[in-house]
Amino acid sequence: MSHQPAAFPAARLRRTRQSAAVRGLVRENTLTVDDLIWPIFVRDGEGVEEPVASMPGVVRRSVDKIVEAAREAHDLGIPAICLFPYTDPLKKTECCSEAWNPNNLSNTATRAIKDAVPEIAIMTDVALDPYNINGHDGFVKDGKILNDETVEALVKQALSQAEAGAEIIGPSDMMDGRIGAIRTALEANGHSEVMILSYAAKYASAFYGPFRDAVGASGALKGDKTTYQMDPGNSDEALRLVGRDLDEGADMVMVKPGMPYLDICRSVKDQFGVPTYAYQVSGEYAMIMGAAQSGWIDGDKAMVESLLGFKRAGCDGILTYFAPAVARKLSGA
Ligand code: PBG
Repeated sequence: MSHQPAAFPAARLRRTRQSAAVRGLVRENTLTVDDLIWPIFVRDGEGVEEPVASMPGVVRRSVDKIVEAAREAHDLGIPAICLFPYTDPLKKTECCSEAWNPNNLSNTATRAIKDAVPEIAIMTDVALDPYNINGHDGFVKDGKILNDETVEALVKQALSQAEAGAEIIGPSDMMDGRIGAIRTALEANGHSEVMILSYAAKYASAFYGPFRDAVGASGALKGDKTTYQMDPGNSDEALRLVGRDLDEGADMVMVKPGMPYLDICRSVKDQFGVPTYAYQVSGEYAMIMGAAQSGWIDGDKAMVESLLGFKRAGCDGILTYFAPAVARKLSGA
């Protein structure tokens, strides 16, 4: 703060709050549709929209319905969607080869969207958990998560996503060295324009619970993810991770979850000045929706306020399940 406020009554800070017009004039941060990335769940079948019980208003869609959703998102002005597959349990294996199958759900959905709505940017998730019989983001051996072997698999997965047409690759696995390995492989295979949005500061969080239901990983997961995702008590480590991922070739970085980690968003933006995103995760969405459904809070207002908080904390954008709802609200529709 460069200047101390003058003493009362020279300064009456309420002066600039007296009307909606003046509040608008002095408002420091705003939320716009350009700030939104919409995460959506893909499943197999046709004409299917299957509700996710722990995420009211969220559905798993078959590819044809995903295309409709992408068109709707584009019409609302949402710049990007992020695909998460719900994989048939029969296709989950220990070697996770479905992850780099060119015709897996995520890649099929990417091609279908690129065909029908080429303008919308597609982000895809790099991690083995939807395909892993253990529910972990990496290979498991003797109860340990293998780092370097996993990175080799993640590179194959990322390349298959880039081949399918994804513009933004989102490694969410938290293995060491994966950003550099993926960047090198993208460059070597003619994908120099493909962006990497690194889940750089991803914490081992209870707030992912509903997501694991949505992608069918809850039942499969043995143990927890604390040997690769971050300890919630740490903040210096988040900055080390962000710096490292940028050095390895990330174009954008993410903090995840969002609301309990707004301090991290602010530090990342201040320290690095790079495109910074927060993921308002499934548990955050479920809390707001659950309270709203019980009549305990005004859901629409809480939605907008929670998202504005990310802008105030320095984020350039937010991954949020509220994306279409808030886009409609912002456009006055
Ligand atoms: C897994 C992944 C997770 C999320 C995105 N990618 C869950 C996890 O790490 O267990 C969580 C998203 C959410 O909760 O909305 N690679």
